[in-house]
Amino acid sequence: MTKALDGVRILDMTHVQSGPTCTQLLAWFGADVIKVERPGVGDATRGQLRDVPDADSLYFTMLNHNKRSITLNTKDDKGKEIFTKLIEKCDVMVENFAPGALGRMGFSWERIQEINPRMIYASIKGFGPGDYEDCKVYENVAQCAGGSASTTGAIGGIPMVTGAQIGDSGTGLHLALGIVTALYHREQSGKGQRVECAMQDSVLNLCRVKLRDQQRLAHGPLKEYAQFGLEIPFGEATPRAGNDSGGGQPGRILKCKGWEHDPDAYTYFITQAAVWKNVCDVIGRPDWKEDPDYATPEVRLPRLTQIFEAIEVWTMTKTKFEVMEICNPLNIPVGPILSMKEIAEDSALRKTGTVVEVDHPERGKYLSVGNPIKLSDSPSDVERSPLLGEHTDEILRNVLGFSDAEIKNAKEEGAV
Ligand code: COA
Repeated sequence: MTKALDGVRILDMTHVQSGPTCTQLLAWFGADVIKVERPGVGDATRGQLRDVPDADSLYFTMLNHNKRSITLNTKDDKGKEIFTKLIEKCDVMVENFAPGALGRMGFSWERIQEINPRMIYASIKGFGPGDYEDCKVYENVAQCAGGSASTTGAIGGIPMVTGAQIGDSGTGLHLALGIVTALYHREQSGKGQRVECAMQDSVLNLCRVKLRDQQRLAHGPLKEYAQFGLEIPFGEATPRAGNDSGGGQPGRILKCKGWEHDPDAYTYFITQAAVWKNVCDVIGRPDWKEDPDYATPEVRLPRLTQIFEAIEVWTMTKTKFEVMEICNPLNIPVGPILSMKEIAEDSALRKTGTVVEVDHPERGKYLSVGNPIKLSDSPSDVERSPLLGEHTDEILRNVLGFSDAEIKNAKEEGAV
């Protein structure tokens, strides 16, 4: 069975998290991803947050599956010559260096087009054109600048960043879509093009509902926010909303049986309007079904905190899984708060390949997240990440047609 991106060759100049997430996805779809790393150094994450001495870190291995690694000094003359040949042979170049770094190496977009007009050049930067275009940016800076932090956290509390890496992995996902779109366009145009994603923009795209609420504020208080029922006045900007649902169906995180000693004994509970009567029956408040103070979504809005307190009295008598078992057949949307330990042990996730065990020569077996996107005719097999420069000879020989003597020479010159 061929893979969806069989025959597509990616020149992967990415490092840390955002860019590697993108190229790892493309590799899972079957692209030949050639990761270029500085000789003797490599991607900085190889050595960051190490748990096993002298072995590539989980940070690196979990973001660089299914790739090949070549070491190449792209600042050295011989290295530039080899890099130029790689540009000729690849379909896509992906990078997430600091602004201007590739130009400083001598490879501006104009130069890349000259070398290979079919090349798709994809890059991630922290910000798009504007006041901050030259800044170096990491995950949490993007979360703050993209509107996520100002809208995350407890009501009246400090801004919070979220554990989901929406700045890095979120931008990598956006970039991957841009790349396959440009590849599709190249089928008709015959030409490559530039694909750019700013981390701030990607985070904002994921915070779209908060910009929605910013505009709704001009027309009155946000009635579905807990803040409304608590009679806390709204300010000028979309506030932090605790665990309120971001949609039209009110929801909260509620304690479940065992919450006193288990930090994850909680459920998310949504009082979907269509099943309000079922909610009333389940929690033992059938009187609320016809009560004019509770019967419609509109009249419930100022009473949401009191309603969720009543629901919590019930959820505290059940485990988070019992809540799920009771509510699901009644179409009441609930979700257990799963710990990473529970997710790592989840047999369904193992079965679908979303959680996979990978073997690595330096570190042994470890768990990783497999491809979350499932294609019926192009399944993803997760292969371990490459050691630094593991495929240098193979790439020089098979992709660039180097002889053994030329490989020896490139090594002696310190280019690879
Ligand atoms: N051979 C020779 N030099 C190489 C090389 C190679 N194979 N690969 C990288 N380098 C050089 C670069 O050219 C650059 O040199 P320069 O500063 O002289 O131009 C240098 O290594 C370091 O690159 P830089 O990107 O500046 O790394 P950094 O560690 O200082 O910054 C980031 C890291 C992530 C902050 C920065 O790359 C960035 O802002 N990237 C864009 C946004 C982004 O993706 N952020 C999220 C990362 S998860």
